[in-house]
Amino acid sequence: MGNNLEHLAIIMDGNGRWAQKRGQNRTKGHEKGVEVVRDITIHCSKIEEIKTLTLYAFSTENWKRPKLEVNFLMKLLERYLKNEEPTYMKYGVKFETIGDLEPFSKGLKKVINNLKEKTKNNKNLTQYVALNYGARDEITRAVKKLVEDKKEITQDNISNYLDTGYSDVDLLIRTSGELRLSNFLLWQIAYAELYFTNTLWPDFTPKELDEIIENFKKRKRKFGGI
Ligand code: IPE
Ligand code: IPE
Ligand code: MG
Repeated sequence: MGNNLEHLAIIMDGNGRWAQKRGQNRTKGHEKGVEVVRDITIHCSKIEEIKTLTLYAFSTENWKRPKLEVNFLMKLLERYLKNEEPTYMKYGVKFETIGDLEPFSKGLKKVINNLKEKTKNNKNLTQYVALNYGARDEITRAVKKLVEDKKEITQDNISNYLDTGYSDVDLLIRTSGELRLSNFLLWQIAYAELYFTNTLWPDFTPKELDEIIENFKKRKRKFGGI
């Protein structure tokens, strides 16, 4: 019982610090981080009530990082999406993205679209991976499109035109101890419950997720009421 958890969103942060703590290159943290993406996605696919898992993987601001790190992340993403198709199929996970894919390479876009096509009928869980995603960019694109389509500017219409479609977040988790939102899902989290953990993303486990969900279940969500 308790609150229903339909849409879980996670800011996966702390990969770089995880590696640096071990005297390793930041890229090692990203490599471990994708393993955790796999584990957590599989775990969520087995939790009946979770229908949507939205993961922040690359922000509109992350292009500011050194070219070497950005290139590494692009290669890592391409490799992961190419290899993980069997996992998506086995666990019934539909792969989707949010964010503006335009700046990515042709090759990466092809891999992304291929996995979307292959997994489009999977029903256990929809995984949205946020790529070149920024909430301000998303809201701006949505409003532009509403104007183009000559639609009325209403809250419902804006929600429907966002990259996630109309889907309010129930629980937002950020790892690594940073207490900020970094331009993630600003519209969809209007009434989300927030949870910040000091755990670095590469150390995050299904067990910790279960504990956080248990905490979420016990909270009193009021949505402005009493
Ligand atoms: C999150 O980990 C992954 C991405 C933003 C791509 P970071 O790379 O931000 O790790 P820290 O915050 O520097 O430790
Ligand atoms: C947010 O993490 C973006 C992702 C997790 C992909 P950052 O590490 O980029 O955020 P800031 O710069 O610490 O706010
Ligand atoms: Mg970070």
